[in-house]
Amino acid sequence: MNRTLASVAFAVVIIVAIAAMIAHFRTADDTIPAVSSIDHLRATYSPLHFKPAIEKATDADCLACHREVLEDRVRTASPAGVKAADSLAWYQRVATYSGEQDTFHRRHLVTPFAKEVMKLSCTTCHQGHDVREEAPASSATAAPKSTTAFTLRKQVNVETTCLKCHGQMNAEVMGLPSPWPESREMFGNSCLTCHSAIRTHRHQVTYLNAEAIEQAGQKSDESCYGCHGGRAWYRIAYPYPRHAWDGMSPDVPDWAKDRPVASEARFVPPTANRSSK
Ligand code: HEC
Ligand code: HEC
Ligand code: HEC
Ligand code: HEC
Ligand code: HEC
Repeated sequence: MNRTLASVAFAVVIIVAIAAMIAHFRTADDTIPAVSSIDHLRATYSPLHFKPAIEKATDADCLACHREVLEDRVRTASPAGVKAADSLAWYQRVATYSGEQDTFHRRHLVTPFAKEVMKLSCTTCHQGHDVREEAPASSATAAPKSTTAFTLRKQVNVETTCLKCHGQMNAEVMGLPSPWPESREMFGNSCLTCHSAIRTHRHQVTYLNAEAIEQAGQKSDESCYGCHGGRAWYRIAYPYPRHAWDGMSPDVPDWAKDRPVASEARFVPPTANRSSK
Protein backbone atom coordinates (compact mmCIF):
# COMPACT_ATOMS: atom_id res chain seq x y z
CA MET A 1 0.00 0.00 0.00
CA ASN A 2 1.11 3.54 -0.72
CA ARG A 3 2.68 4.71 2.60
CA THR A 4 2.06 8.42 2.07
CA LEU A 5 -1.57 7.71 1.37
CA ALA A 6 -1.79 5.55 4.51
CA SER A 7 -0.28 8.23 6.74
CA VAL A 8 -2.52 10.89 5.24
CA ALA A 9 -5.53 8.68 5.92
CA PHE A 10 -4.29 8.07 9.46
CA ALA A 11 -3.86 11.79 10.07
CA VAL A 12 -7.37 12.44 8.80
CA VAL A 13 -8.77 9.82 11.17
CA ILE A 14 -6.97 11.38 14.14
CA ILE A 15 -8.14 14.89 13.24
CA VAL A 16 -11.75 13.76 12.87
CA ALA A 17 -11.55 11.92 16.19
CA ILE A 18 -10.19 14.98 17.99
CA ALA A 19 -12.82 17.21 16.42
CA ALA A 20 -15.54 14.78 17.52
CA MET A 21 -14.19 14.76 21.07
CA ILE A 22 -14.13 18.54 21.21
CA ALA A 23 -17.67 18.69 19.86
CA HIS A 24 -18.76 16.12 22.44
CA PHE A 25 -17.28 17.97 25.41
CA ARG A 26 -18.60 21.27 24.15
CA THR A 27 -22.19 20.00 24.08
CA ALA A 28 -21.69 18.34 27.45
CA ASP A 29 -20.47 21.61 28.97
CA ASP A 30 -22.52 24.19 27.10
CA THR A 31 -25.98 22.92 26.33
CA ILE A 32 -27.07 20.14 28.65
CA PRO A 33 -28.58 21.15 31.99
CA ALA A 34 -26.99 20.21 35.28
CA VAL A 35 -28.94 17.02 35.91
CA SER A 36 -27.44 15.47 32.79
CA SER A 37 -23.93 15.87 34.08
CA ILE A 38 -24.71 12.57 35.82
CA ASP A 39 -23.53 9.83 33.46
CA HIS A 40 -26.06 7.57 31.79
CA LEU A 41 -25.51 4.57 34.05
CA ARG A 42 -25.83 6.62 37.23
CA ALA A 43 -28.94 8.31 35.88
CA THR A 44 -30.40 4.88 35.04
CA TYR A 45 -29.85 3.89 38.66
CA SER A 46 -31.11 7.23 39.99
CA PRO A 47 -32.70 6.61 43.42
CA LEU A 48 -35.81 8.28 41.95
CA HIS A 49 -36.51 5.10 39.97
CA PHE A 50 -36.94 3.07 43.10
CA LYS A 51 -38.83 2.99 46.36
CA PRO A 52 -38.78 4.83 48.68
CA ALA A 53 -37.53 7.92 46.76
CA ILE A 54 -40.07 7.53 43.93
CA GLU A 55 -42.94 7.92 46.39
CA LYS A 56 -41.95 11.54 46.96
CA ALA A 57 -40.92 12.38 43.38
CA THR A 58 -42.75 15.20 41.64
CA ASP A 59 -43.43 15.35 37.90
CA ALA A 60 -40.74 18.01 37.66
CA ASP A 61 -38.21 15.62 39.25
CA CYS A 62 -38.89 13.04 36.56
CA LEU A 63 -39.17 15.51 33.70
CA ALA A 64 -35.74 16.92 34.51
CA CYS A 65 -34.41 13.86 32.69
CA HIS A 66 -37.48 12.67 30.75
CA ARG A 67 -38.75 15.71 28.88
CA GLU A 68 -39.21 13.49 25.85
CA VAL A 69 -42.16 11.88 27.61
CA LEU A 70 -44.23 15.03 27.15
CA GLU A 71 -42.44 16.58 24.18
CA ASP A 72 -42.31 13.72 21.69
CA ARG A 73 -45.22 13.73 19.24
CA VAL A 74 -46.50 11.04 16.91
CA ARG A 75 -45.52 11.20 13.26
CA THR A 76 -47.93 13.13 11.06
CA ALA A 77 -47.59 10.36 8.51
CA SER A 78 -46.23 6.81 8.61
CA PRO A 79 -43.05 6.08 6.62
CA ALA A 80 -45.31 4.58 3.94
CA GLY A 81 -47.26 7.86 3.77
CA VAL A 82 -50.47 7.02 5.66
CA LYS A 83 -51.53 10.21 7.40
CA ALA A 84 -52.23 9.98 11.14
CA ALA A 85 -55.23 12.26 10.66
CA ASP A 86 -56.78 9.77 8.21
CA SER A 87 -56.29 6.66 10.31
CA LEU A 88 -58.25 7.21 13.49
CA ALA A 89 -59.06 4.15 15.58
CA TRP A 90 -62.63 3.62 16.86
CA TYR A 91 -61.68 4.99 20.28
CA GLN A 92 -60.37 8.13 18.62
CA ARG A 93 -63.78 8.81 17.06
CA VAL A 94 -65.74 9.04 20.31
CA ALA A 95 -67.32 12.33 21.37
CA THR A 96 -64.78 13.07 24.11
CA TYR A 97 -61.73 12.70 21.85
CA SER A 98 -60.33 15.98 20.62
CA GLY A 99 -57.24 17.17 18.83
CA GLU A 100 -54.70 15.34 16.72
CA GLN A 101 -53.48 11.86 17.48
CA ASP A 102 -51.02 12.05 20.28
CA THR A 103 -48.71 9.88 22.35
CA PHE A 104 -49.86 7.66 25.19
CA HIS A 105 -48.25 9.87 27.84
CA ARG A 106 -49.64 13.10 26.43
CA ARG A 107 -53.16 11.62 26.13
CA HIS A 108 -53.09 10.97 29.88
CA LEU A 109 -51.30 14.05 31.10
CA VAL A 110 -51.74 17.08 28.88
CA THR A 111 -54.51 16.76 26.25
CA PRO A 112 -57.78 18.65 26.98
CA PHE A 113 -60.00 15.76 28.11
CA ALA A 114 -57.22 14.30 30.28
CA LYS A 115 -56.74 17.62 32.01
CA GLU A 116 -60.45 18.11 32.46
CA VAL A 117 -61.25 14.83 34.21
CA MET A 118 -57.90 13.60 35.52
CA LYS A 119 -54.87 14.78 37.46
CA LEU A 120 -52.49 11.93 36.82
CA SER A 121 -48.84 12.32 37.72
CA CYS A 122 -45.86 10.20 36.80
CA THR A 123 -46.01 8.32 40.08
CA THR A 124 -49.72 7.49 39.75
CA CYS A 125 -48.52 4.79 37.37
CA HIS A 126 -44.77 4.57 37.94
CA GLN A 127 -43.99 3.24 41.39
CA GLY A 128 -40.51 1.98 40.69
CA HIS A 129 -39.14 -0.57 38.27
CA ASP A 130 -36.16 -2.78 37.59
CA VAL A 131 -33.93 -1.28 34.94
CA ARG A 132 -31.82 -4.38 34.48
CA GLU A 133 -34.21 -7.31 34.10
CA GLU A 134 -37.62 -5.62 34.23
CA ALA A 135 -38.39 -8.32 36.78
CA PRO A 136 -39.03 -8.19 40.51
CA ALA A 137 -36.52 -10.05 42.71
CA SER A 138 -33.80 -10.02 40.07
CA SER A 139 -31.16 -9.53 42.77
CA ALA A 140 -30.86 -9.34 46.54
CA THR A 141 -31.10 -5.56 46.45
CA ALA A 142 -33.83 -5.28 43.81
CA ALA A 143 -37.55 -4.86 44.54
CA PRO A 144 -38.75 -8.05 46.28
CA LYS A 145 -40.92 -10.67 44.62
CA SER A 146 -43.86 -9.41 46.67
CA THR A 147 -43.75 -5.97 45.08
CA THR A 148 -46.94 -4.61 43.55
CA ALA A 149 -45.14 -1.61 42.05
CA PHE A 150 -44.57 -3.31 38.69
CA THR A 151 -45.02 -6.73 37.15
CA LEU A 152 -42.77 -8.99 35.13
CA ARG A 153 -41.38 -7.32 31.98
CA LYS A 154 -43.32 -4.15 32.68
CA GLN A 155 -42.43 -0.80 34.17
CA VAL A 156 -45.81 -0.35 35.82
CA ASN A 157 -48.51 -2.55 37.32
CA VAL A 158 -51.39 -2.51 34.85
CA GLU A 159 -53.86 -4.14 37.23
CA THR A 160 -53.60 -1.30 39.71
CA THR A 161 -53.44 1.45 37.09
CA CYS A 162 -54.79 0.93 33.56
CA LEU A 163 -57.51 -1.53 34.61
CA LYS A 164 -59.15 1.14 36.75
CA CYS A 165 -60.14 3.08 33.63
CA HIS A 166 -59.85 0.51 30.87
CA GLY A 167 -61.76 -2.51 32.22
CA GLN A 168 -65.14 -3.88 31.15
CA MET A 169 -68.35 -2.32 32.40
CA ASN A 170 -69.80 -4.62 35.02
CA ALA A 171 -73.32 -4.59 33.56
CA GLU A 172 -74.23 -7.67 35.59
CA VAL A 173 -73.89 -6.11 39.06
CA MET A 174 -75.76 -3.07 37.76
CA GLY A 175 -78.68 -5.22 36.69
CA LEU A 176 -78.52 -3.88 33.15
CA PRO A 177 -80.39 -6.05 30.66
CA SER A 178 -77.63 -5.81 28.03
CA PRO A 179 -74.30 -4.11 27.39
CA TRP A 180 -74.43 -0.30 27.65
CA PRO A 181 -74.36 0.47 23.90
CA GLU A 182 -77.57 -1.59 23.59
CA SER A 183 -79.32 -0.53 26.80
CA ARG A 184 -78.28 3.11 27.07
CA GLU A 185 -81.46 4.44 25.41
CA MET A 186 -83.59 2.59 27.93
CA PHE A 187 -81.92 4.65 30.64
CA GLY A 188 -82.13 7.98 28.88
CA ASN A 189 -78.52 7.82 27.67
CA SER A 190 -77.38 8.69 31.15
CA CYS A 191 -75.54 6.79 33.85
CA LEU A 192 -76.94 9.32 36.31
CA THR A 193 -80.46 7.94 35.86
CA CYS A 194 -79.29 5.42 38.48
CA HIS A 195 -76.07 6.92 39.73
CA SER A 196 -77.51 10.11 41.11
CA ALA A 197 -78.72 7.85 43.95
CA ILE A 198 -76.46 4.76 43.80
CA ARG A 199 -72.75 4.63 44.71
CA THR A 200 -72.70 8.41 44.94
CA HIS A 201 -69.48 8.53 46.96
CA ARG A 202 -67.09 8.25 44.05
CA HIS A 203 -63.89 9.56 42.51
CA GLN A 204 -62.53 10.99 45.78
CA VAL A 205 -58.96 10.23 44.78
CA THR A 206 -55.96 12.44 44.16
CA TYR A 207 -55.63 11.53 40.47
CA LEU A 208 -59.20 12.40 39.40
CA ASN A 209 -61.20 15.64 39.16
CA ALA A 210 -64.37 14.42 40.88
CA GLU A 211 -66.39 17.61 40.30
CA ALA A 212 -65.46 17.90 36.64
CA ILE A 213 -66.31 14.24 36.09
CA GLU A 214 -69.85 14.77 37.40
CA GLN A 215 -70.30 17.83 35.20
CA ALA A 216 -69.06 15.96 32.16
CA GLY A 217 -71.36 13.05 33.07
CA GLN A 218 -74.35 15.36 33.07
CA LYS A 219 -73.58 16.46 29.54
CA SER A 220 -72.93 12.98 28.15
CA ASP A 221 -72.81 9.37 29.29
CA GLU A 222 -69.91 9.00 26.86
CA SER A 223 -67.51 10.53 29.39
CA CYS A 224 -68.51 8.10 32.19
CA TYR A 225 -68.60 5.15 29.84
CA GLY A 226 -65.16 6.09 28.49
CA CYS A 227 -63.55 5.06 31.78
CA HIS A 228 -66.05 2.31 32.64
CA GLY A 229 -66.16 0.05 29.60
CA GLY A 230 -66.00 2.35 26.59
CA ARG A 231 -62.24 1.98 26.22
CA ALA A 232 -61.88 -1.51 27.62
CA TRP A 233 -58.47 -2.90 26.75
CA TYR A 234 -59.15 -5.79 29.15
CA ARG A 235 -61.70 -8.59 29.22
CA ILE A 236 -62.19 -8.22 32.96
CA ALA A 237 -63.71 -5.46 35.06
CA TYR A 238 -61.84 -3.62 37.80
CA PRO A 239 -63.02 -4.60 41.29
CA TYR A 240 -63.89 -1.07 42.43
CA PRO A 241 -63.93 -0.25 46.11
CA ARG A 242 -67.51 0.01 47.35
CA HIS A 243 -67.82 3.17 49.38
CA ALA A 244 -70.85 3.49 51.63
CA TRP A 245 -73.40 5.97 50.24
CA ASP A 246 -76.46 7.70 51.63
CA GLY A 247 -79.43 5.41 51.33
CA MET A 248 -77.31 2.27 50.88
CA SER A 249 -78.89 -1.01 52.01
CA PRO A 250 -77.04 -2.60 54.95
CA ASP A 251 -77.06 -5.99 53.18
CA VAL A 252 -73.90 -6.57 51.21
CA PRO A 253 -74.58 -8.50 47.99
CA ASP A 254 -72.50 -11.65 47.52
CA TRP A 255 -70.43 -10.25 44.67
CA ALA A 256 -69.34 -7.37 46.89
CA LYS A 257 -68.27 -9.40 49.93
CA ASP A 258 -64.55 -9.29 49.08
CA ARG A 259 -64.55 -5.70 47.91
CA PRO A 260 -62.59 -3.03 49.72
CA VAL A 261 -64.76 -0.22 51.10
CA ALA A 262 -62.23 2.54 50.49
CA SER A 263 -59.93 3.65 47.68
CA GLU A 264 -56.29 2.58 47.59
CA ALA A 265 -54.65 4.37 50.51
CA ARG A 266 -51.99 6.08 48.44
CA PHE A 267 -54.64 7.96 46.49
CA VAL A 268 -56.88 9.10 49.32
CA PRO A 269 -56.64 12.89 49.55
CA PRO A 270 -55.86 14.30 52.97
CA THR A 271 -59.23 16.08 53.01
CA ALA A 272 -61.44 13.30 51.63
CA ASN A 273 -65.01 14.53 51.80
CA ARG A 274 -67.58 11.84 52.38
CA SER A 275 -70.67 13.73 51.26
CA SER A 276 -69.47 15.07 47.94
CA LYS A 277 -70.51 13.05 44.93
C1 HEC B 1 -31.17 11.69 36.63
C2 HEC B 1 -31.99 11.49 35.47
C3 HEC B 1 -33.29 10.71 35.66
C4 HEC B 1 -34.32 10.98 36.53
C5 HEC B 1 -34.41 12.11 37.57
C6 HEC B 1 -35.36 10.01 36.26
N1 HEC B 1 -34.95 9.17 35.26
FE1 HEC B 1 -35.99 7.63 34.49
N2 HEC B 1 -34.40 7.04 33.37
C7 HEC B 1 -33.22 7.74 33.28
C8 HEC B 1 -32.31 6.99 32.43
C9 HEC B 1 -30.91 7.42 32.03
C10 HEC B 1 -32.99 5.81 32.05
C11 HEC B 1 -32.46 4.67 31.19
C12 HEC B 1 -32.76 4.94 29.77
C13 HEC B 1 -32.23 3.82 28.91
O1 HEC B 1 -31.23 3.20 29.24
O2 HEC B 1 -32.85 3.59 27.87
C14 HEC B 1 -34.31 5.89 32.65
C15 HEC B 1 -35.29 4.94 32.47
C16 HEC B 1 -36.60 5.08 32.91
C17 HEC B 1 -37.68 4.19 32.57
C18 HEC B 1 -37.58 2.94 31.70
C19 HEC B 1 -37.08 1.82 32.56
C20 HEC B 1 -36.88 0.52 31.84
O3 HEC B 1 -37.08 -0.51 32.49
O4 HEC B 1 -36.51 0.50 30.67
C21 HEC B 1 -38.81 4.68 33.19
C22 HEC B 1 -40.20 4.08 33.16
C23 HEC B 1 -38.41 5.87 33.92
N3 HEC B 1 -37.08 6.09 33.72
C24 HEC B 1 -39.28 6.63 34.65
C25 HEC B 1 -38.86 7.66 35.50
C26 HEC B 1 -39.73 8.31 36.45
C27 HEC B 1 -41.19 8.01 36.65
C28 HEC B 1 -38.98 9.24 37.10
C29 HEC B 1 -39.39 10.13 38.27
C30 HEC B 1 -39.88 9.41 39.44
C31 HEC B 1 -37.63 9.18 36.54
N4 HEC B 1 -37.62 8.20 35.58
C32 HEC B 1 -36.58 9.98 36.91
C33 HEC B 1 -32.94 8.95 33.88
C34 HEC B 1 -33.70 9.55 34.87
C1 HEC C 1 -51.27 6.39 32.88
C2 HEC C 1 -50.06 5.82 33.45
C3 HEC C 1 -48.76 6.54 33.24
C4 HEC C 1 -48.44 7.83 33.59
C5 HEC C 1 -49.36 8.86 34.24
C6 HEC C 1 -47.06 8.03 33.23
N1 HEC C 1 -46.55 6.90 32.65
FE1 HEC C 1 -44.68 6.64 31.91
N2 HEC C 1 -45.18 4.83 31.17
C7 HEC C 1 -46.39 4.20 31.40
C8 HEC C 1 -46.39 2.94 30.71
C9 HEC C 1 -47.52 1.92 30.70
C10 HEC C 1 -45.13 2.82 30.06
C11 HEC C 1 -44.61 1.64 29.23
C12 HEC C 1 -44.17 0.63 30.25
C13 HEC C 1 -43.61 -0.66 29.71
O1 HEC C 1 -43.17 -0.70 28.56
O2 HEC C 1 -43.58 -1.65 30.50
C14 HEC C 1 -44.39 4.02 30.40
C15 HEC C 1 -43.10 4.26 29.98
C16 HEC C 1 -42.33 5.32 30.44
C17 HEC C 1 -40.92 5.51 30.15
C18 HEC C 1 -40.05 4.59 29.33
C19 HEC C 1 -39.83 5.14 27.98
C20 HEC C 1 -41.04 5.13 27.14
O3 HEC C 1 -41.45 6.23 26.71
O4 HEC C 1 -41.59 4.05 26.89
C21 HEC C 1 -40.55 6.67 30.76
C22 HEC C 1 -39.18 7.29 30.73
C23 HEC C 1 -41.73 7.19 31.44
N3 HEC C 1 -42.79 6.35 31.23
C24 HEC C 1 -41.73 8.34 32.19
C25 HEC C 1 -42.89 8.95 32.67
C26 HEC C 1 -42.91 10.29 33.23
C27 HEC C 1 -41.71 11.18 33.40
C28 HEC C 1 -44.21 10.55 33.58
C29 HEC C 1 -44.79 11.84 34.16
C30 HEC C 1 -44.55 13.05 33.38
C31 HEC C 1 -45.00 9.36 33.22
N4 HEC C 1 -44.16 8.43 32.67
C32 HEC C 1 -46.37 9.21 33.44
C33 HEC C 1 -47.44 4.68 32.16
C34 HEC C 1 -47.55 5.97 32.65
C1 HEC D 1 -57.60 7.49 35.58
C2 HEC D 1 -58.03 6.89 34.34
C3 HEC D 1 -57.02 6.30 33.40
C4 HEC D 1 -55.96 5.46 33.71
C5 HEC D 1 -55.49 5.02 35.08
C6 HEC D 1 -55.40 5.05 32.45
N1 HEC D 1 -56.09 5.63 31.41
FE1 HEC D 1 -55.76 5.35 29.43
N2 HEC D 1 -57.16 6.73 28.99
C7 HEC D 1 -57.94 7.40 29.91
C8 HEC D 1 -58.75 8.38 29.23
C9 HEC D 1 -59.75 9.31 29.87
C10 HEC D 1 -58.41 8.30 27.85
C11 HEC D 1 -58.97 9.14 26.70
C12 HEC D 1 -58.13 10.35 26.49
C13 HEC D 1 -58.69 11.21 25.37
O1 HEC D 1 -59.57 10.78 24.64
O2 HEC D 1 -58.22 12.33 25.21
C14 HEC D 1 -57.42 7.23 27.74
C15 HEC D 1 -56.87 6.82 26.53
C16 HEC D 1 -56.01 5.76 26.40
C17 HEC D 1 -55.49 5.28 25.14
C18 HEC D 1 -55.86 5.81 23.75
C19 HEC D 1 -54.88 6.90 23.40
C20 HEC D 1 -55.10 7.50 22.04
O3 HEC D 1 -54.15 8.10 21.53
O4 HEC D 1 -56.18 7.44 21.48
C21 HEC D 1 -54.64 4.24 25.43
C22 HEC D 1 -53.88 3.38 24.45
C23 HEC D 1 -54.61 4.09 26.88
N3 HEC D 1 -55.46 5.02 27.43
C24 HEC D 1 -53.86 3.17 27.57
C25 HEC D 1 -53.70 3.16 28.95
C26 HEC D 1 -52.76 2.32 29.67
C27 HEC D 1 -51.85 1.29 29.02
C28 HEC D 1 -52.87 2.62 30.99
C29 HEC D 1 -52.09 2.07 32.16
C30 HEC D 1 -50.66 2.25 32.11
C31 HEC D 1 -53.88 3.65 31.11
N4 HEC D 1 -54.35 3.95 29.85
C32 HEC D 1 -54.31 4.18 32.31
C33 HEC D 1 -57.98 7.17 31.26
C34 HEC D 1 -57.07 6.41 31.96
C1 HEC E 1 -80.08 0.66 35.86
C2 HEC E 1 -79.33 1.50 36.75
C3 HEC E 1 -77.88 1.75 36.38
C4 HEC E 1 -77.38 2.38 35.26
C5 HEC E 1 -78.15 2.97 34.09
C6 HEC E 1 -75.96 2.41 35.44
N1 HEC E 1 -75.59 1.79 36.61
FE1 HEC E 1 -73.73 1.61 37.36
N2 HEC E 1 -74.44 0.53 38.94
C7 HEC E 1 -75.78 0.27 39.18
C8 HEC E 1 -75.90 -0.58 40.34
C9 HEC E 1 -77.21 -1.12 40.92
C10 HEC E 1 -74.58 -0.82 40.81
C11 HEC E 1 -74.16 -1.69 41.99
C12 HEC E 1 -74.53 -1.01 43.28
C13 HEC E 1 -73.99 -1.74 44.50
O1 HEC E 1 -72.79 -1.59 44.77
O2 HEC E 1 -74.75 -2.41 45.17
C14 HEC E 1 -73.69 -0.10 39.91
C15 HEC E 1 -72.32 -0.08 40.02
C16 HEC E 1 -71.48 0.66 39.22
C17 HEC E 1 -70.06 0.72 39.34
C18 HEC E 1 -69.23 -0.06 40.34
C19 HEC E 1 -69.07 -1.47 39.84
C20 HEC E 1 -68.34 -2.38 40.79
O3 HEC E 1 -67.94 -3.46 40.34
O4 HEC E 1 -68.17 -2.06 41.97
C21 HEC E 1 -69.58 1.54 38.36
C22 HEC E 1 -68.14 1.89 38.10
C23 HEC E 1 -70.72 2.00 37.61
N3 HEC E 1 -71.87 1.44 38.14
C24 HEC E 1 -70.65 2.85 36.52
C25 HEC E 1 -71.72 3.12 35.68
C26 HEC E 1 -71.60 3.88 34.46
C27 HEC E 1 -70.33 4.52 33.97
C28 HEC E 1 -72.83 3.89 33.87
C29 HEC E 1 -73.22 4.50 32.54
C30 HEC E 1 -72.36 4.16 31.40
C31 HEC E 1 -73.73 3.17 34.75
N4 HEC E 1 -73.01 2.69 35.82
C32 HEC E 1 -75.09 2.98 34.51
C33 HEC E 1 -76.84 0.73 38.43
C34 HEC E 1 -76.75 1.38 37.22
C1 HEC F 1 -61.33 9.60 34.02
C2 HEC F 1 -61.93 8.32 34.28
C3 HEC F 1 -63.28 8.26 34.92
C4 HEC F 1 -64.44 8.90 34.53
C5 HEC F 1 -64.62 9.92 33.43
C6 HEC F 1 -65.48 8.38 35.39
N1 HEC F 1 -64.98 7.47 36.27
FE1 HEC F 1 -66.01 6.47 37.68
N2 HEC F 1 -64.28 5.74 38.47
C7 HEC F 1 -63.03 5.93 37.91
C8 HEC F 1 -62.04 5.36 38.79
C9 HEC F 1 -60.55 5.33 38.55
C10 HEC F 1 -62.74 4.84 39.92
C11 HEC F 1 -62.13 4.15 41.15
C12 HEC F 1 -61.72 5.22 42.16
C13 HEC F 1 -61.33 4.62 43.49
O1 HEC F 1 -60.45 3.75 43.52
O2 HEC F 1 -61.95 5.00 44.48
C14 HEC F 1 -64.14 5.08 39.66
C15 HEC F 1 -65.18 4.67 40.49
C16 HEC F 1 -66.53 4.76 40.17
C17 HEC F 1 -67.62 4.16 40.92
C18 HEC F 1 -67.46 3.32 42.18
C19 HEC F 1 -67.74 4.22 43.39
C20 HEC F 1 -67.36 3.63 44.72
O3 HEC F 1 -66.21 3.87 45.15
O4 HEC F 1 -68.19 3.00 45.36
C21 HEC F 1 -68.78 4.50 40.30
C22 HEC F 1 -70.19 4.13 40.69
C23 HEC F 1 -68.42 5.31 39.15
N3 HEC F 1 -67.05 5.44 39.11
C24 HEC F 1 -69.33 5.87 38.27
C25 HEC F 1 -69.01 6.85 37.34
C26 HEC F 1 -69.98 7.71 36.69
C27 HEC F 1 -71.47 7.65 36.90
C28 HEC F 1 -69.27 8.55 35.87
C29 HEC F 1 -69.78 9.72 35.03
C30 HEC F 1 -70.47 10.74 35.80
C31 HEC F 1 -67.86 8.17 36.00
N4 HEC F 1 -67.76 7.15 36.90
C32 HEC F 1 -66.84 8.77 35.29
C33 HEC F 1 -62.75 6.56 36.72
C34 HEC F 1 -63.64 7.37 36.02
